[in-house]
Formats: sequence, structure tokens, C-alpha cells
Amino acid sequence: MIPTQSQPQPESSISARDLYARLLGYARPYWRMFALSIAGMLVFAVTEPLFAALIKPLLDGSFVERDLETVRLMPFLLVGLFVVRGIAGFINTYCLKWVGRRVVTDLRQQMFDHLLHAPTRYFDTHGSGQILAKLTYNVENVANASTSALTTIVRDGFTALALLIYMLYLDAKLAAIFLFIGPTTAFAIKYATKKFRRYSKRIQERVGSLTHVAQEAIDAHRVIKAFGGQAQEREQFRAVNEKTRALQMKMVATEAVSVPLVQLISAIAIGIVVYLSTMQGLRSDITVGSFMSFVVAMGLLLPPVKRLTSINSHLQRGIIAAESLFELLDSPTEPDTGTRTLTRAQGRIDYVDISHSYAADKGLVIEGLNLSIAAGESLALVGRSGSGKSTLANLLPRFYEPCAGCILLDGIDIRELRLACLREQLSLVTQDVVLFNDTIANNIAYGHPRAVTRAEIEAAAAGAHALAFIRALPQGFDTPIGDRGVLLSGGQRQRLAIARAMLKDAPILILDEATSALDTEAERHIQAALQTLMRARTTLVIAHRLSTIEQVDRVVVLDQGRVIEQGSHAELLAQGGYYAHLRQLQFNQTPATAA
Ligand SMILES: Nc1ncnc2c1ncn2[C@@H]1O[C@H](COP(=O)(O)OP(=O)(O)OP(=O)(O)O)[C@@H](O)[C@H]1O
Ligand SMILES: [Mg+2]
Repeated sequence: MIPTQSQPQPESSISARDLYARLLGYARPYWRMFALSIAGMLVFAVTEPLFAALIKPLLDGSFVERDLETVRLMPFLLVGLFVVRGIAGFINTYCLKWVGRRVVTDLRQQMFDHLLHAPTRYFDTHGSGQILAKLTYNVENVANASTSALTTIVRDGFTALALLIYMLYLDAKLAAIFLFIGPTTAFAIKYATKKFRRYSKRIQERVGSLTHVAQEAIDAHRVIKAFGGQAQEREQFRAVNEKTRALQMKMVATEAVSVPLVQLISAIAIGIVVYLSTMQGLRSDITVGSFMSFVVAMGLLLPPVKRLTSINSHLQRGIIAAESLFELLDSPTEPDTGTRTLTRAQGRIDYVDISHSYAADKGLVIEGLNLSIAAGESLALVGRSGSGKSTLANLLPRFYEPCAGCILLDGIDIRELRLACLREQLSLVTQDVVLFNDTIANNIAYGHPRAVTRAEIEAAAAGAHALAFIRALPQGFDTPIGDRGVLLSGGQRQRLAIARAMLKDAPILILDEATSALDTEAERHIQAALQTLMRARTTLVIAHRLSTIEQVDRVVVLDQGRVIEQGSHAELLAQGGYYAHLRQLQFNQTPATAA
């Protein structure tokens, strides 16, 4: 590890070797191709000293001994050598890339699968840009860095070794001089490549924030236009963009300085060897051919040695990218240790002493809440914005784990149920409707455990009062709705979400502001449909418009995560508390909007 100077850097707890061992594990299923690639590298490595070796008979044969037979053989040997080298090089590159692409594909798939089971909190704390960068840029980086590092270690390592052995064989004395100078060279080179890791890590983080800023601007393009946020967004993007450039330039500078430096150092080394070899006492009775062959071998040694000394930067780049991948892969998935199953729940729900906080340093959002909902009961949650209504609803499908207390479904702690089984019991229509870039029919049938008939989809759409507008679309139920449903109006989107929930037909229904985007008339219609839907199941309705919840069995008023009032609509009105006050406020406005 590189010692840190001024400011302490977060160093990884895992060693580089562990990381690479783990990465190599991904290549294991493809070991045959991998081995073939290594074999290609070794053959390639051996051709280098052979090339230098050709020089010896060429010079000695033609200029010294005038042996034309040997010289005539040379062109054939030379071409043959390049054919072998070319084939070996191809096998090496192709097979290694083949393995690399497989590993990238596997890693991506594994990361994506992991993401699908990541807890909601993971998405809250990691921006989508950052996660996307992991899945795209960082995976690519890991593959490139580790394949090039491997090539360098094996191919260049062996080339250098083969050349050294050849040099020793040619002239031990000269080779000894060279070996004496070699380590000094390597040491000087190592120093030049030291700064790499720091820059590389920061650049990867930058790329994440670059995507993040851009993505935010793309998603929020309407808000930006409406509020004239262009200047602010431009400035924000310019800042990250510029910082990325500056860092990249630092990395380029480090790289660019180290390359000529390495070459200079190596040239000096060769010069010293040549110079020393001419000195009295050190001079060996070496032939012209051997001497030239030796110098060529030294020259050929340069590029692989240079790459070997800069291997650290490749390794570091790979390590940082790999760390980021493994951070995702090692992050805990949603706890799903429950073993019990329910075919169809009755629908009794008990919140027992529930407290919840989104982060340890933030206050409690729900505080010691107790609430029992009978099977088949419809219950409305009312309260000011931020009082914890959505949170309470989100605890039921275990999107978040409460920090204290437990939730019982039919008297069973929901943690004892298999997660998939628990969620099967719930239909959810949330505040922000999420639709997929697919047809209307597929969006309504999304995630349904069995194949759904068109008639069932149509029935659900009819129940959600979506049939009229769907029929009016050019392709009806087969109309694609665009990315996240942008081609539909807010109210239309909401009706599709309700249709989806109707089709799911789960014993528990959660409607979190499910009709907020509808006009009063459409809401009235849906209200009727929802009434039928609610009849047979436990329903949790969250609504700001109190006119929509008059029919529910019980109203619970939340404030700062506590129940402050509960009872039927009539009881609460009679009580004259918060609910009655709120109702009064809205009632005064209602005639204007409802008319
Ligand atoms: N994912 C989250 N991470 C951190 N804090 C959150 C998160 N979601 C909600 N909160 C906080 O928890 C509190 C309760 O939020 P919640 O969404 O439950 O309110 P709500 O009653 O549904 O409000 P609204 O009527 O506006 O939808 C708020 O103070 C909010 O800032
Ligand atoms: Mg809410």
C-alpha cells in the first residue's frame, strides 16, 4: 500500500491479492480458454529471444565466416518466426478477451440480480447515477485492467525472463553488468508511477457524479425549464466536468512523465553496458554476431520491462474499480430469513410498538405506534405532510425494517414469512406511479404470477375506469406508453396503477394517494370501483382529500409518527379535534373545486 502523505485516504480493508483472487474466481469456469491464452503468451514470449538469436548467425555467417548457406536460411526462419509469433499473439489476445467478456457479462448479471434484491435503503443512499456507473464504467474498468495486468505479468514477465536467460547464455559477464544496473532502473521507474492510484480513484468517483448530475438534469428537464434552472444546472455540470478534466489531466501528466522517464533510464542502462563492455578487463572475447545479438536483446527487453514497471497503475485501477463492484455485491440483500408461507391471508394487521427512523442520526419518524386493523376493515390514514403515513405503509411490505417493534399479519410476525409470500398478499398503489416502457396490457399485468387473459386485463381496466381512454388510443391495450409512461397523463397513469392492483387481487390493499391526480369526476367513478374492491379485503387508504375517505370504517390521524385521534368519520367530526378542523378547512374549499 502506498503511504499517504498529507490527508488520510480511505484505504481498502481487503488486499489487492484477495481482490484479484476473487476476480480470478470469475474466470474459473472458463479455465480452458484462459489456459489457451496463457499458452499463447508463453509461445509469444519465447519468440523474442529467438528473434535476437537470429542476428548472431546472420552477422557471423555473412560478414565473418562468409557462410552463405546459413544466410540463405535466414529469411525463411525470420518469416516462420513471425508466423508463429502472430498465431501465438492472436490466440493470446482473442482467448483472454473472450474470457474477459464472459467475466464482464457474468459480473453485470450478478450485480443486476443483486440490485433487484437490494434493500430500499441502498437505493436511498446511493444515487442511481453512481449505481449505473458501477454497472457500466467500473465493470469495464475491472475487465480491462485485469486483462492488461495479466498480459503484462505473464507475457512481458516471460519475455523478459527469456531474454535475460538468452543474454546470460551469450555472455555471462555482460549479462552480470546488465543485471546489476537493472534493479536500479526498476526502482527509479517505480517512483514515477506512484501517484496513479489516488487520481484513478477520484476519477471514478467523478464519473459517478458526472452521470448523476446529467441524469438529474435529464429527469428534471421540465422543472428546469419552468423554474429557469438552466444557469444553475449548467454551472453544476461545468464544475464536475471541469474537475473531471483536471483530474484526468493529472493522470495523463503522471503517465506521460513516467513513459519518457522510463525510456531515458533504460537507455542510460544500455549505454552503461555498452560502455563497460569496451573497457579493458571487462572485455570478453565475444564475436560481432554475439555482441550485436546481445544489444538487440537488451533493446527488446525495454518495452516489456517498461510495461512491467507500470503494471502497478493497471493493478490499482483494477483494484479501485473492483472494490466498487464488490461494495455492491457485498452489500447485504433484503433479509429474507422467514420460512412460513400463507396461501391467502385473512388480512388482520397489527402494528405493535413500532418505532422507525430512516437513519441513526435522524429522529424517529414513527414513535411507539400501536395499531390493529381487523381483517376486511378499511382504514384511512390522515395527517399532515411528513407525519409518517407513507412510512407506515412502507413498513408492511418490508421496504424498510422498523428499528423497534413488530408487525403481525394474521398474528404472524411478518419477518417469519417468506418475503415473496408476504408481498404476494399486498397490492400497492403508491404516491408516484411507476410504469414500465411497455404496452398498456403488459403494464397492467406486470409481475402477475400466472399468464393473464386479455379479458381479465380488460376487466381490471374497466374497474379502474381506464377502459374508455385505453380504447381511444390508436392501438388500444397494445399501445406502448413510453419511458415511465410519459405518453400518458398523470390521471391515466394512476388509473393503470389501480388496474394493476385490481388485477393482482391481493387480500390487502394499500392506496397511498392513489387518486390524487384524478379530477373529481374520475375520482368519484373510481371511488365506486374502489369501494367494491375494498369490500372483500383489508385496505389502508392514505389521502389528503378527506372527501375521498368518508366511506372507510375507521380514520386514524397521525402526527409526528403518533396516533393522535381515531374513530369513524362521524365520531371524529363530533369530537371536534384535528380531523374536524381539517375537514372544515377542506369543506370550505370543496364547493369551488367540485362544482
Ligand atoms: N427514504 C427516506 N429516507 C429518509 N427519510 C425519509 C424517507 N422517506 C421519508 N422520510 C422522512 O420521514 C418523514 C415521514 O415521511 P412520510 O413519507 O412517511 O410522510 P407522509 O406522511 O407520507 O407525508 P406526505 O403526506 O407528504 O406523503 C418525513 O420527515 C421524511 O422527511
Ligand atoms: Mg406520503
